[in-house]
Order: sequence, then structure tokens, then C-alpha cells
Amino acid sequence: MDKPIKLAILASGNGTNAQQISEYFANSKTVKVDLIIYNKRDAYVAKRAENLGIESRYFNRHDFLETDNVLNLLKERNIDYIILAGFLLLVPENLLSAFPNHIINIHPALLPKYGGKGMYGHHVHEAVVANHESETGITIHVIDHRYDCGTTLFQAYCKVLPIDTADDVAAKIHLLEKEFFPRVIESYILNRPMPTQHDK
Ligand code: GAR
Repeated sequence: MDKPIKLAILASGNGTNAQQISEYFANSKTVKVDLIIYNKRDAYVAKRAENLGIESRYFNRHDFLETDNVLNLLKERNIDYIILAGFLLLVPENLLSAFPNHIINIHPALLPKYGGKGMYGHHVHEAVVANHESETGITIHVIDHRYDCGTTLFQAYCKVLPIDTADDVAAKIHLLEKEFFPRVIESYILNRPMPTQHDK
């Protein structure tokens, strides 16, 4: 039988997406979450990895930006795709050139709106509410060397009501992420049709 396609998830914080992706593929014979890498010492994603029984490794900013330590580990483990699940460092050139079109990111907004440096996590939802947007959503894309740019694979939408707080928006976004991120990863790497959002 063919070997499974191996994913490494990179995360910086809580790790709900990392957990959802790992659980989605837990019984898959074709796709395996092999490793979770995090870049903040106290990131809760490390605890989630432990609970899931997935190996996790911490690398600091220096490791990522000034060395090949991360790249060497990914090569050693024969990783096929890198998944950015709330990873807040700009992906360095050595990883980009070793994994062309094989690094997938999720952003909690409808890019190109609310993207770029400093636009991440709750900052995005606060800006969406402050600008009285009537809708927002998620974007899943293949990355290039800029923050939140590259080829869009998928977007899903949700309504923003006038009474919604940034926390309310965050909750809606997390539901979209849970529903679609693992499925979009699967569709992309197995070359299958993307999911569609029915209840816009
Ligand atoms: C997610 O909402 C993800 O879309 C966002 O960070 C959150 C991480 O949550 N990513 C970005 O803002 C990237 N620019 P999690 O750690 O619970 O998965």
C-alpha cells in the first residue's frame, strides 16, 4: 500500500485548528498529521498535541529565520505538506523554496480584505466590527513570500450583525474553520473538488 501523505502543522497559539485537522485525519490511511511545530514557548497547542498523541517540537524565531533547523527536521521526517494553523511568523525563504505550492494557510477574513502584517486572530475581528462590515469569512490559500498572499483555494462567508462583538465574530469564524479547513486541505492534496458552502 502507498505511504500516507505526511503533514506538519505549524501553529503559534491555542491550536484549535491544529486539533481539528489532526482529529479529521486520525483514521485516514491516505493523510497523516506527523508533527506539530510551534514557535511560542507557552503555546497551548503543545498540550493539545500531547493529548492527541502527536509529536510536537518547539523552535524559536531564531531557529526559523536564521537556521535550517526546522527545514532539516521536516526533511528528516519526509514531510509532504506544511499547514499553517494560526502560525504568526512570516514563513522563511528556505521553507518556501523547499515546499513550493505545498504550504497552506488559513486566514480569518475574506482576503484581500483584512490581511497583511499585524492582521491576525482577534485583531481581524475587531477591525471587521469597527468597520461595520455586514459579512466576513475565512480564506484558505497556498502561500507565497508575503503575508496573506498567494493562490486562494477556498473562501467561506458568514454574516456580521450590527450587534455582533469581535468575540461573536470570532465564534462564527471558528465554526467555519472547523467545518472547512480539514476538508479543503484534503481536497487540495488529493486533487479532489473543493467543498462548497451551502448556507451562506
Ligand atoms: C485562527 O482563527 C486562524 O484563522 C488565525 O488564527 C487563529 C488561530 O486559532 N490565523 C491568522 O490570523 C493568520 N494570519 P487556533 O490557534 O485556535 O487554531
